[in-house]
Amino acid sequence: MALTKHIEELKKKREEVQKGGGEKASEKQVALGKMLARARINALLDDRSFQEYDMFVQHEARDFDMAKKVLHGDGVIIGTGTITGQPVCIFAQDFTVAGGSLGLMHSRKIVKIMEHALKLKVPLIGINDSGGARIQEGVNSLAGYGEIFFRNTISSGVIPQISVILGPCAGGAVYSPALTDFVFVVENISKMFITGPEVIKTVLGEEISMEDLGGARVHSEISGNAHFFASSEIECFDQIKKLISLIPSNNCVKAKKLESKPPCHDCQIENIVPDDPAQPYDVRDVVKAVVDSSDFFEIHEHWARNMVIGFGRMNGVTCGFVCNQPLVLAGVLDVDSSDKAARFIRYCDAFNIPIVTFVDLPGYLPGIDQEHAGVIRHGAKILYAYSEATVPKLTIILRKAYGGGYIAMGSRHLRADFVFAWPTAEIAVMGPEGAANIIFRKEISEAEDPEKMRLQKVQEYKEKFANPYVAASKGYIDSVIEPAETRDILLHALELSMDKTISLPNKKHGVPPF
Ligand code: HXC
Repeated sequence: MALTKHIEELKKKREEVQKGGGEKASEKQVALGKMLARARINALLDDRSFQEYDMFVQHEARDFDMAKKVLHGDGVIIGTGTITGQPVCIFAQDFTVAGGSLGLMHSRKIVKIMEHALKLKVPLIGINDSGGARIQEGVNSLAGYGEIFFRNTISSGVIPQISVILGPCAGGAVYSPALTDFVFVVENISKMFITGPEVIKTVLGEEISMEDLGGARVHSEISGNAHFFASSEIECFDQIKKLISLIPSNNCVKAKKLESKPPCHDCQIENIVPDDPAQPYDVRDVVKAVVDSSDFFEIHEHWARNMVIGFGRMNGVTCGFVCNQPLVLAGVLDVDSSDKAARFIRYCDAFNIPIVTFVDLPGYLPGIDQEHAGVIRHGAKILYAYSEATVPKLTIILRKAYGGGYIAMGSRHLRADFVFAWPTAEIAVMGPEGAANIIFRKEISEAEDPEKMRLQKVQEYKEKFANPYVAASKGYIDSVIEPAETRDILLHALELSMDKTISLPNKKHGVPPF
Protein backbone atom coordinates (compact mmCIF):
# COMPACT_ATOMS: atom_id res chain seq x y z
CA MET A 1 0.00 0.00 0.00
CA ALA A 2 2.79 2.36 1.04
CA LEU A 3 4.69 1.43 -2.11
CA THR A 4 1.66 2.21 -4.28
CA LYS A 5 1.50 5.66 -2.73
CA HIS A 6 5.14 6.29 -3.53
CA ILE A 7 4.72 5.06 -7.07
CA GLU A 8 1.67 7.28 -7.54
CA GLU A 9 3.71 10.23 -6.31
CA LEU A 10 6.53 9.43 -8.73
CA LYS A 11 4.06 9.17 -11.61
CA LYS A 12 2.56 12.53 -10.71
CA LYS A 13 5.98 14.16 -10.52
CA ARG A 14 6.96 12.69 -13.86
CA GLU A 15 3.73 13.89 -15.45
CA GLU A 16 4.32 17.37 -14.12
CA VAL A 17 7.85 17.55 -15.53
CA GLN A 18 6.68 16.15 -18.85
CA LYS A 19 4.40 19.13 -19.27
CA GLY A 20 7.57 21.14 -19.99
CA GLY A 21 6.83 24.84 -20.17
CA GLY A 22 3.05 24.28 -20.07
CA GLU A 23 0.15 24.24 -22.46
CA LYS A 24 0.50 27.75 -23.88
CA ALA A 25 4.19 27.45 -24.68
CA SER A 26 3.67 23.98 -26.15
CA GLU A 27 0.85 25.23 -28.36
CA LYS A 28 3.10 28.05 -29.58
CA GLN A 29 5.85 25.54 -30.42
CA VAL A 30 3.46 23.33 -32.38
CA ALA A 31 1.92 26.34 -34.16
CA LEU A 32 5.42 27.18 -35.44
CA GLY A 33 5.52 23.74 -37.08
CA LYS A 34 7.99 22.42 -34.48
CA MET A 35 7.76 19.14 -32.57
CA LEU A 36 8.02 19.13 -28.78
CA ALA A 37 11.36 18.04 -27.32
CA ARG A 38 10.16 14.67 -25.97
CA ALA A 39 8.30 13.88 -29.19
CA ARG A 40 11.52 14.56 -31.10
CA ILE A 41 13.47 12.12 -28.97
CA ASN A 42 10.80 9.46 -29.31
CA ALA A 43 10.57 9.93 -33.08
CA LEU A 44 14.34 9.55 -33.46
CA LEU A 45 15.03 6.67 -31.10
CA ASP A 46 13.78 3.09 -31.30
CA ASP A 47 10.34 2.66 -29.82
CA ARG A 48 10.39 2.74 -25.97
CA SER A 49 14.19 2.69 -25.87
CA PHE A 50 14.60 6.13 -24.28
CA GLN A 51 15.81 6.21 -20.68
CA GLU A 52 15.72 9.72 -19.22
CA TYR A 53 18.14 11.03 -16.55
CA ASP A 54 18.10 14.15 -14.38
CA MET A 55 14.41 14.73 -14.97
CA PHE A 56 13.98 16.51 -11.64
CA VAL A 57 16.97 18.83 -11.92
CA GLN A 58 16.10 22.45 -11.11
CA HIS A 59 17.95 25.69 -11.72
CA GLU A 60 19.56 27.40 -8.73
CA ALA A 61 19.42 30.96 -10.02
CA ARG A 62 18.19 33.61 -7.61
CA ASP A 63 18.58 36.94 -9.42
CA PHE A 64 15.84 38.69 -11.42
CA ASP A 65 12.99 36.87 -9.65
CA MET A 66 14.34 33.51 -10.75
CA ALA A 67 13.87 32.09 -7.24
CA LYS A 68 10.11 31.99 -7.85
CA LYS A 69 10.39 30.16 -11.19
CA VAL A 70 10.15 26.42 -11.64
CA LEU A 71 11.82 25.37 -14.89
CA HIS A 72 11.05 21.70 -15.54
CA GLY A 73 14.22 19.75 -16.22
CA ASP A 74 15.86 23.18 -16.50
CA GLY A 75 14.92 23.27 -20.19
CA VAL A 76 16.79 20.25 -21.44
CA ILE A 77 16.06 16.53 -21.61
CA ILE A 78 18.95 14.05 -21.49
CA GLY A 79 19.16 10.29 -21.72
CA THR A 80 20.18 7.17 -23.58
CA GLY A 81 18.43 4.99 -26.13
CA THR A 82 19.00 3.07 -29.32
CA ILE A 83 18.71 3.78 -33.03
CA THR A 84 18.08 0.57 -34.98
CA GLY A 85 19.57 -1.24 -32.01
CA GLN A 86 22.73 0.88 -31.74
CA PRO A 87 23.12 2.67 -28.36
CA VAL A 88 23.32 6.48 -28.39
CA CYS A 89 23.39 9.31 -25.85
CA ILE A 90 21.08 12.23 -26.54
CA PHE A 91 20.04 15.65 -25.28
CA ALA A 92 17.19 17.80 -26.53
CA GLN A 93 16.69 21.42 -25.49
CA ASP A 94 13.06 22.21 -24.64
CA PHE A 95 12.17 25.63 -26.03
CA THR A 96 8.90 25.67 -24.07
CA VAL A 97 10.92 26.00 -20.84
CA ALA A 98 12.47 29.51 -20.68
CA GLY A 99 13.14 29.37 -24.42
CA GLY A 100 15.49 26.40 -23.95
CA SER A 101 17.98 28.94 -22.61
CA LEU A 102 21.18 27.56 -21.15
CA GLY A 103 21.75 28.13 -17.45
CA LEU A 104 24.20 26.40 -15.14
CA MET A 105 22.13 23.27 -14.34
CA HIS A 106 21.00 22.98 -17.96
CA SER A 107 24.64 22.94 -19.01
CA ARG A 108 25.54 20.42 -16.29
CA LYS A 109 22.92 18.04 -17.66
CA ILE A 110 24.37 18.34 -21.16
CA VAL A 111 27.89 17.84 -19.81
CA LYS A 112 26.73 14.74 -17.91
CA ILE A 113 25.35 13.07 -21.04
CA MET A 114 28.44 14.09 -23.04
CA GLU A 115 30.63 12.42 -20.44
CA HIS A 116 28.46 9.30 -20.54
CA ALA A 117 28.80 9.17 -24.33
CA LEU A 118 32.58 9.47 -24.13
CA LYS A 119 32.85 6.87 -21.37
CA LEU A 120 30.46 4.41 -23.03
CA LYS A 121 31.99 5.17 -26.44
CA VAL A 122 28.68 5.71 -28.21
CA PRO A 123 27.51 8.53 -30.54
CA LEU A 124 26.25 11.76 -28.98
CA ILE A 125 23.24 13.47 -30.54
CA GLY A 126 22.32 17.02 -29.51
CA ILE A 127 19.02 18.59 -30.50
CA ASN A 128 19.45 22.37 -30.29
CA ASP A 129 16.41 24.64 -29.85
CA SER A 130 17.38 27.53 -27.60
CA GLY A 131 17.47 31.28 -27.08
CA GLY A 132 21.14 30.88 -26.05
CA ALA A 133 22.83 31.87 -22.80
CA ARG A 134 20.21 32.35 -20.04
CA ILE A 135 20.49 36.06 -19.55
CA GLN A 136 19.50 35.96 -15.84
CA GLU A 137 22.35 33.55 -15.02
CA GLY A 138 25.13 35.71 -16.39
CA VAL A 139 28.62 34.27 -16.35
CA ASN A 140 27.34 30.88 -15.13
CA SER A 141 25.75 30.42 -18.56
CA LEU A 142 28.97 31.34 -20.30
CA ALA A 143 30.87 28.90 -18.08
CA GLY A 144 28.35 26.23 -19.05
CA TYR A 145 29.00 26.77 -22.75
CA GLY A 146 32.74 26.67 -22.17
CA GLU A 147 32.43 23.28 -20.45
CA ILE A 148 30.40 21.97 -23.40
CA PHE A 149 32.87 23.27 -26.02
CA PHE A 150 35.75 21.68 -24.12
CA ARG A 151 34.04 18.28 -24.11
CA ASN A 152 33.06 18.60 -27.78
CA THR A 153 36.75 19.05 -28.54
CA ILE A 154 38.02 16.27 -26.31
CA SER A 155 35.43 13.83 -27.73
CA SER A 156 36.30 14.74 -31.32
CA GLY A 157 37.70 11.74 -33.17
CA VAL A 158 36.69 9.38 -30.34
CA ILE A 159 32.89 9.23 -30.68
CA PRO A 160 30.68 10.57 -33.48
CA GLN A 161 29.01 13.84 -32.47
CA ILE A 162 25.83 14.86 -34.25
CA SER A 163 24.06 18.23 -33.92
CA VAL A 164 20.48 18.78 -34.96
CA ILE A 165 19.37 22.40 -35.23
CA LEU A 166 15.61 22.48 -34.65
CA GLY A 167 14.98 26.09 -33.69
CA PRO A 168 17.18 29.05 -32.84
CA CYS A 169 20.86 28.42 -32.12
CA ALA A 170 22.29 31.87 -31.60
CA GLY A 171 25.38 33.67 -30.34
CA GLY A 172 28.30 31.64 -29.06
CA ALA A 173 25.94 28.65 -28.74
CA VAL A 174 26.60 27.90 -32.41
CA TYR A 175 30.12 26.78 -31.57
CA SER A 176 29.06 23.51 -30.00
CA PRO A 177 27.45 22.32 -33.27
CA ALA A 178 30.39 23.76 -35.19
CA LEU A 179 32.74 21.55 -33.17
CA THR A 180 30.72 18.40 -33.91
CA ASP A 181 31.04 16.07 -36.90
CA PHE A 182 27.65 16.40 -38.58
CA VAL A 183 25.09 19.23 -38.45
CA PHE A 184 21.50 18.63 -39.57
CA VAL A 185 19.08 21.46 -40.45
CA VAL A 186 15.40 21.62 -41.38
CA GLU A 187 13.79 24.10 -43.75
CA ASN A 188 11.96 27.02 -42.04
CA ILE A 189 12.88 25.70 -38.58
CA SER A 190 16.65 25.94 -38.15
CA LYS A 191 18.19 29.36 -37.42
CA MET A 192 21.92 29.69 -36.70
CA PHE A 193 23.85 32.91 -36.33
CA ILE A 194 26.44 34.63 -34.17
CA THR A 195 24.80 38.06 -34.14
CA GLY A 196 21.04 38.30 -34.66
CA PRO A 197 19.01 40.68 -36.86
CA GLU A 198 18.55 43.18 -34.01
CA VAL A 199 22.27 43.53 -33.36
CA ILE A 200 22.92 43.85 -37.08
CA LYS A 201 20.32 46.60 -37.30
CA THR A 202 21.84 48.47 -34.36
CA VAL A 203 25.46 48.11 -35.39
CA LEU A 204 25.25 48.16 -39.18
CA GLY A 205 21.85 49.76 -39.74
CA GLU A 206 20.85 46.86 -42.03
CA GLU A 207 17.53 45.00 -41.92
CA ILE A 208 17.71 41.27 -42.52
CA SER A 209 15.38 38.39 -41.69
CA MET A 210 16.53 35.48 -39.49
CA GLU A 211 15.94 33.16 -42.44
CA ASP A 212 18.19 35.13 -44.81
CA LEU A 213 20.80 35.53 -42.12
CA GLY A 214 21.12 31.94 -40.96
CA GLY A 215 18.26 29.75 -42.15
CA ALA A 216 18.58 26.11 -43.21
CA ARG A 217 19.28 26.91 -46.87
CA VAL A 218 21.93 29.49 -46.01
CA HIS A 219 23.91 26.94 -44.00
CA SER A 220 23.39 24.07 -46.45
CA GLU A 221 24.21 26.00 -49.61
CA ILE A 222 26.37 29.02 -48.73
CA SER A 223 28.23 28.75 -45.41
CA GLY A 224 28.66 24.96 -45.41
CA ASN A 225 27.95 24.85 -41.65
CA ALA A 226 25.22 22.24 -42.21
CA HIS A 227 25.96 18.82 -43.68
CA PHE A 228 22.37 17.65 -44.15
CA PHE A 229 19.23 19.54 -45.21
CA ALA A 230 15.70 18.19 -44.72
CA SER A 231 12.28 19.61 -45.45
CA SER A 232 10.71 18.22 -42.26
CA GLU A 233 11.80 17.05 -38.83
CA ILE A 234 10.75 13.49 -39.63
CA GLU A 235 12.85 13.50 -42.82
CA CYS A 236 15.75 14.84 -40.75
CA PHE A 237 15.40 11.99 -38.23
CA ASP A 238 15.41 9.46 -41.08
CA GLN A 239 18.68 10.97 -42.31
CA ILE A 240 20.20 10.65 -38.82
CA LYS A 241 19.09 7.01 -38.59
CA LYS A 242 20.73 6.31 -41.94
CA LEU A 243 23.96 8.01 -40.87
CA ILE A 244 24.07 6.07 -37.60
CA SER A 245 23.65 2.81 -39.54
CA LEU A 246 26.72 3.63 -41.64
CA ILE A 247 29.28 4.84 -39.09
CA PRO A 248 31.03 3.04 -36.22
CA SER A 249 30.11 3.87 -32.60
CA ASN A 250 33.63 4.98 -31.76
CA ASN A 251 37.20 5.14 -33.01
CA CYS A 252 38.15 1.69 -31.68
CA VAL A 253 35.72 -0.29 -33.82
CA LYS A 254 34.78 -0.58 -37.47
CA ALA A 255 31.33 0.21 -38.87
CA LYS A 256 28.92 -2.71 -38.82
CA LYS A 257 29.50 -4.93 -41.85
CA LEU A 258 26.42 -5.97 -43.80
CA GLU A 259 25.89 -8.62 -46.42
CA SER A 260 27.38 -7.66 -49.80
CA LYS A 261 24.84 -6.66 -52.43
CA PRO A 262 25.56 -5.88 -56.10
CA PRO A 263 24.85 -2.45 -57.58
CA CYS A 264 21.59 -2.03 -59.51
CA HIS A 265 21.56 -3.52 -63.01
CA ASP A 266 20.74 -0.24 -64.72
CA CYS A 267 24.04 1.40 -63.64
CA GLN A 268 26.08 0.94 -66.83
CA ILE A 269 29.48 2.14 -65.69
CA GLU A 270 31.07 2.04 -69.13
CA ASN A 271 28.52 4.52 -70.51
CA ILE A 272 28.89 7.28 -67.91
CA VAL A 273 32.02 9.17 -69.00
CA PRO A 274 31.39 10.80 -72.43
CA ASP A 275 33.86 10.35 -75.32
CA ASP A 276 34.39 14.10 -75.56
CA PRO A 277 36.68 15.09 -72.64
CA ALA A 278 35.05 18.52 -72.53
CA GLN A 279 31.60 17.02 -71.80
CA PRO A 280 30.48 16.90 -68.15
CA TYR A 281 28.85 13.92 -66.41
CA ASP A 282 27.58 13.21 -62.91
CA VAL A 283 30.30 11.46 -60.88
CA ARG A 284 27.60 10.20 -58.50
CA ASP A 285 26.56 7.80 -61.28
CA VAL A 286 30.05 6.27 -61.10
CA VAL A 287 29.77 5.88 -57.31
CA LYS A 288 26.32 4.32 -57.63
CA ALA A 289 27.69 1.88 -60.21
CA VAL A 290 30.21 0.47 -57.70
CA VAL A 291 28.51 0.60 -54.27
CA ASP A 292 26.30 -2.10 -52.79
CA SER A 293 22.68 -1.70 -53.92
CA SER A 294 23.79 1.56 -55.66
CA ASP A 295 23.05 3.16 -52.30
CA PHE A 296 25.12 6.36 -51.88
CA PHE A 297 24.51 8.62 -48.85
CA GLU A 298 25.74 12.05 -49.85
CA ILE A 299 27.04 14.58 -47.30
CA HIS A 300 27.11 18.35 -47.93
CA GLU A 301 24.99 17.74 -51.01
CA HIS A 302 24.19 21.40 -51.60
CA TRP A 303 27.51 23.07 -50.73
CA ALA A 304 30.77 23.17 -52.73
CA ARG A 305 29.10 20.93 -55.28
CA ASN A 306 32.26 20.63 -57.40
CA MET A 307 33.28 18.02 -54.82
CA VAL A 308 31.07 15.05 -53.93
CA ILE A 309 31.55 13.26 -50.60
CA GLY A 310 29.54 10.62 -48.80
CA PHE A 311 29.25 7.06 -47.58
CA GLY A 312 28.45 3.88 -49.45
CA ARG A 313 29.11 0.21 -48.79
CA MET A 314 31.46 -2.03 -50.76
CA ASN A 315 31.10 -5.72 -50.00
CA GLY A 316 29.10 -4.65 -46.93
CA VAL A 317 31.93 -2.41 -45.62
CA THR A 318 31.24 1.33 -45.17
CA CYS A 319 33.59 3.42 -47.34
CA GLY A 320 33.95 7.20 -47.64
CA PHE A 321 33.86 8.47 -51.23
CA VAL A 322 35.71 11.63 -52.27
CA CYS A 323 35.04 12.63 -55.87
CA ASN A 324 35.53 15.58 -58.18
CA GLN A 325 32.23 16.51 -59.80
CA PRO A 326 32.69 17.40 -63.51
CA LEU A 327 29.08 18.69 -63.58
CA VAL A 328 30.02 21.73 -61.45
CA LEU A 329 32.95 24.02 -62.38
CA ALA A 330 34.47 21.04 -64.23
CA GLY A 331 35.23 19.56 -60.78
CA VAL A 332 38.01 22.04 -59.89
CA LEU A 333 39.49 22.28 -56.43
CA ASP A 334 38.82 25.60 -54.72
CA VAL A 335 38.63 26.95 -51.18
CA ASP A 336 35.33 25.36 -50.21
CA SER A 337 35.74 22.03 -52.00
CA SER A 338 39.18 21.60 -50.39
CA ASP A 339 37.69 22.24 -46.93
CA LYS A 340 34.81 19.88 -47.66
CA ALA A 341 37.04 17.01 -48.77
CA ALA A 342 39.77 17.53 -46.17
CA ARG A 343 37.44 17.41 -43.18
CA PHE A 344 35.67 14.34 -44.51
CA ILE A 345 38.97 12.53 -45.12
CA ARG A 346 39.96 13.26 -41.52
CA TYR A 347 36.58 11.97 -40.29
CA CYS A 348 36.99 8.72 -42.22
CA ASP A 349 40.56 8.34 -40.96
CA ALA A 350 39.55 8.95 -37.34
CA PHE A 351 36.77 6.37 -37.53
CA ASN A 352 38.45 3.54 -39.49
CA ILE A 353 36.51 4.13 -42.68
CA PRO A 354 38.37 3.30 -45.94
CA ILE A 355 38.56 6.12 -48.48
CA VAL A 356 37.76 5.67 -52.17
CA THR A 357 38.68 8.60 -54.43
CA PHE A 358 37.40 9.22 -57.97
CA VAL A 359 39.50 11.76 -59.83
CA ASP A 360 38.48 14.01 -62.72
CA LEU A 361 39.63 17.62 -62.39
CA PRO A 362 41.49 20.26 -64.38
CA GLY A 363 43.37 21.45 -61.26
CA TYR A 364 42.90 24.30 -58.77
CA LEU A 365 40.52 27.15 -59.70
CA PRO A 366 42.52 30.14 -60.99
CA GLY A 367 41.68 33.78 -60.23
CA ILE A 368 42.12 36.65 -57.84
CA ASP A 369 39.02 35.75 -55.80
CA GLN A 370 40.40 32.33 -54.94
CA GLU A 371 43.93 33.57 -54.32
CA HIS A 372 42.64 36.26 -51.95
CA ALA A 373 40.26 33.83 -50.25
CA GLY A 374 43.27 31.69 -49.36
CA VAL A 375 43.23 28.86 -51.89
CA ILE A 376 46.85 28.15 -50.96
CA ARG A 377 46.02 27.66 -47.28
CA HIS A 378 42.73 25.82 -47.88
CA GLY A 379 44.08 23.75 -50.75
CA ALA A 380 46.91 22.55 -48.51
CA LYS A 381 44.35 20.98 -46.14
CA ILE A 382 43.47 18.29 -48.64
CA LEU A 383 47.17 17.36 -49.13
CA TYR A 384 47.58 17.20 -45.36
CA ALA A 385 44.45 15.11 -44.83
CA TYR A 386 45.30 12.50 -47.46
CA SER A 387 48.96 12.28 -46.41
CA GLU A 388 48.12 11.79 -42.76
CA ALA A 389 45.30 9.27 -43.27
CA THR A 390 46.28 5.69 -42.47
CA VAL A 391 43.01 3.95 -43.40
CA PRO A 392 42.88 2.08 -46.73
CA LYS A 393 43.11 4.62 -49.55
CA LEU A 394 42.02 3.52 -53.04
CA THR A 395 42.09 5.91 -55.99
CA ILE A 396 40.63 5.68 -59.49
CA ILE A 397 41.55 8.31 -62.09
CA LEU A 398 38.55 8.52 -64.40
CA ARG A 399 39.60 11.27 -66.76
CA LYS A 400 41.55 14.47 -66.08
CA ALA A 401 44.19 14.58 -63.36
CA TYR A 402 46.10 17.75 -64.05
CA GLY A 403 48.72 19.60 -62.07
CA GLY A 404 48.30 19.96 -58.31
CA GLY A 405 44.93 18.27 -58.64
CA TYR A 406 46.64 15.02 -59.67
CA ILE A 407 48.79 15.07 -56.54
CA ALA A 408 46.05 16.27 -54.17
CA MET A 409 43.36 13.76 -55.09
CA GLY A 410 44.66 10.70 -53.27
CA SER A 411 47.73 10.13 -55.44
CA ARG A 412 50.34 7.43 -54.93
CA HIS A 413 52.67 10.18 -53.73
CA LEU A 414 50.38 10.89 -50.73
CA ARG A 415 50.47 7.15 -50.01
CA ALA A 416 47.36 5.78 -51.67
CA ASP A 417 47.49 1.99 -51.30
CA PHE A 418 46.21 1.33 -54.81
CA VAL A 419 45.85 3.72 -57.75
CA PHE A 420 44.04 2.67 -60.91
CA ALA A 421 43.25 4.63 -64.06
CA TRP A 422 40.64 4.22 -66.73
CA PRO A 423 41.90 4.32 -70.36
CA THR A 424 40.26 7.76 -70.61
CA ALA A 425 42.64 9.17 -67.96
CA GLU A 426 44.77 12.21 -68.84
CA ILE A 427 47.61 12.74 -66.38
CA ALA A 428 49.84 15.76 -66.96
CA VAL A 429 51.22 18.95 -65.46
CA MET A 430 48.44 20.99 -67.04
CA GLY A 431 45.72 20.80 -69.72
CA PRO A 432 46.91 20.44 -73.36
CA GLU A 433 45.74 23.94 -74.41
CA GLY A 434 47.60 25.78 -71.66
CA ALA A 435 50.66 23.58 -71.92
CA ALA A 436 50.99 23.97 -75.72
CA ASN A 437 50.58 27.75 -75.49
CA ILE A 438 53.46 27.95 -73.02
CA ILE A 439 56.03 25.46 -74.24
CA PHE A 440 55.49 26.08 -77.97
CA ARG A 441 54.92 29.85 -77.71
CA LYS A 442 57.81 30.71 -80.03
CA GLU A 443 56.91 28.14 -82.71
CA ILE A 444 53.27 29.22 -82.66
CA SER A 445 53.96 32.96 -82.91
CA GLU A 446 56.54 32.52 -85.65
CA ALA A 447 54.43 30.11 -87.75
CA GLU A 448 52.88 31.17 -91.04
CA ASP A 449 49.50 30.03 -89.70
CA PRO A 450 49.75 30.38 -85.89
CA GLU A 451 46.31 28.86 -85.21
CA LYS A 452 47.07 25.78 -87.30
CA MET A 453 50.42 25.40 -85.55
CA ARG A 454 48.75 25.82 -82.14
CA LEU A 455 46.21 23.07 -82.84
CA GLN A 456 49.00 20.83 -84.09
CA LYS A 457 51.04 21.40 -80.93
CA VAL A 458 48.00 20.81 -78.68
CA GLN A 459 47.47 17.49 -80.46
CA GLU A 460 51.17 16.61 -80.11
CA TYR A 461 51.04 17.31 -76.36
CA LYS A 462 47.84 15.30 -75.98
CA GLU A 463 49.33 12.26 -77.68
CA LYS A 464 52.44 12.43 -75.56
CA PHE A 465 51.03 13.18 -72.12
CA ALA A 466 47.21 13.22 -71.98
CA ASN A 467 46.83 9.51 -71.31
CA PRO A 468 47.40 7.12 -68.41
CA TYR A 469 50.33 5.25 -69.93
CA VAL A 470 53.17 7.63 -69.04
CA ALA A 471 52.16 7.44 -65.34
CA ALA A 472 51.68 3.67 -65.70
CA SER A 473 55.17 3.27 -67.20
CA LYS A 474 56.65 4.83 -64.06
CA GLY A 475 54.55 2.80 -61.60
CA TYR A 476 52.67 5.87 -60.32
CA ILE A 477 49.47 4.02 -61.11
CA ASP A 478 49.17 0.31 -60.55
CA SER A 479 47.02 -0.62 -63.49
CA VAL A 480 44.99 0.78 -66.37
CA ILE A 481 41.59 -0.89 -66.06
CA GLU A 482 38.35 -1.09 -68.00
CA PRO A 483 35.49 0.80 -66.36
CA ALA A 484 33.50 -2.45 -66.07
CA GLU A 485 36.29 -3.95 -63.94
CA THR A 486 36.16 -1.13 -61.38
CA ARG A 487 33.99 -2.68 -58.65
CA ASP A 488 35.73 -6.03 -58.66
CA ILE A 489 39.17 -4.42 -58.56
CA LEU A 490 38.12 -2.08 -55.74
CA LEU A 491 36.64 -4.95 -53.72
CA HIS A 492 39.87 -6.91 -54.09
CA ALA A 493 42.05 -3.90 -53.16
CA LEU A 494 39.80 -3.14 -50.20
CA GLU A 495 40.02 -6.65 -48.87
CA LEU A 496 43.81 -6.62 -49.20
CA SER A 497 44.25 -3.29 -47.44
CA MET A 498 41.65 -3.58 -44.64
CA ASP A 499 44.19 -4.66 -42.03
CA LYS A 500 47.19 -2.70 -43.24
CA THR A 501 49.46 -1.18 -40.61
CA ILE A 502 51.26 2.13 -40.99
CA SER A 503 53.49 3.85 -38.50
CA LEU A 504 53.95 7.60 -38.50
CA PRO A 505 56.70 9.51 -36.66
CA ASN A 506 56.05 10.11 -32.97
CA LYS A 507 54.58 13.53 -32.27
CA LYS A 508 52.07 15.25 -30.00
CA HIS A 509 50.10 16.34 -33.06
CA GLY A 510 50.80 17.93 -36.41
CA VAL A 511 50.11 21.54 -37.30
CA PRO A 512 47.68 21.32 -40.22
CA PRO A 513 46.91 24.46 -42.26
CA PHE A 514 43.62 25.19 -40.43
C1 HXC B 1 16.51 33.85 -20.87
C2 HXC B 1 15.13 33.56 -22.68
C3 HXC B 1 16.23 33.64 -23.55
C4 HXC B 1 17.52 33.84 -22.98
C5 HXC B 1 14.47 33.34 -24.72
N1 HXC B 1 14.06 33.38 -23.45
N2 HXC B 1 15.78 33.51 -24.82
N3 HXC B 1 15.28 33.66 -21.36
N4 HXC B 1 17.60 33.93 -21.64
N5 HXC B 1 18.61 33.91 -23.74
C6 HXC B 1 12.70 33.25 -22.95
C7 HXC B 1 11.85 34.45 -23.26
O1 HXC B 1 12.03 35.46 -22.31
C8 HXC B 1 10.47 33.85 -23.21
O2 HXC B 1 10.11 33.71 -21.84
C9 HXC B 1 10.68 32.46 -23.76
O3 HXC B 1 12.07 32.19 -23.60
C10 HXC B 1 10.32 32.34 -25.21
O4 HXC B 1 10.98 33.36 -25.92
P1 HXC B 1 10.22 34.30 -26.97
O5 HXC B 1 11.09 35.49 -27.18
O6 HXC B 1 8.82 34.51 -26.55
O7 HXC B 1 10.24 33.37 -28.26
P2 HXC B 1 10.31 33.80 -29.78
O8 HXC B 1 9.41 34.97 -30.05
O9 HXC B 1 10.06 32.55 -30.54
O10 HXC B 1 11.82 34.29 -30.01
C11 HXC B 1 12.85 33.39 -29.91
C12 HXC B 1 14.19 34.14 -29.87
C13 HXC B 1 14.15 35.23 -28.79
C14 HXC B 1 14.47 34.74 -31.25
C15 HXC B 1 15.30 33.10 -29.61
O11 HXC B 1 13.70 34.64 -27.57
C16 HXC B 1 15.46 35.85 -28.53
O12 HXC B 1 15.94 36.70 -29.29
N6 HXC B 1 16.09 35.48 -27.42
C17 HXC B 1 17.37 36.04 -27.01
C18 HXC B 1 18.48 35.51 -27.88
C19 HXC B 1 19.78 35.98 -27.38
O13 HXC B 1 20.21 37.13 -27.61
N7 HXC B 1 20.43 35.12 -26.58
C20 HXC B 1 21.66 35.40 -25.95
C21 HXC B 1 22.71 35.21 -27.02
S1 HXC B 1 24.27 35.55 -26.37
P3 HXC B 1 8.61 33.90 -21.32
O14 HXC B 1 8.73 33.75 -19.86
O15 HXC B 1 8.19 35.27 -21.77
O16 HXC B 1 7.84 32.82 -22.00
C22 HXC B 1 24.80 34.04 -26.06
C23 HXC B 1 26.20 34.06 -25.58
C24 HXC B 1 26.69 32.67 -25.49
O17 HXC B 1 24.16 33.08 -26.22
C25 HXC B 1 28.16 32.70 -25.48
C26 HXC B 1 28.67 31.33 -25.37
C27 HXC B 1 30.13 31.33 -25.62
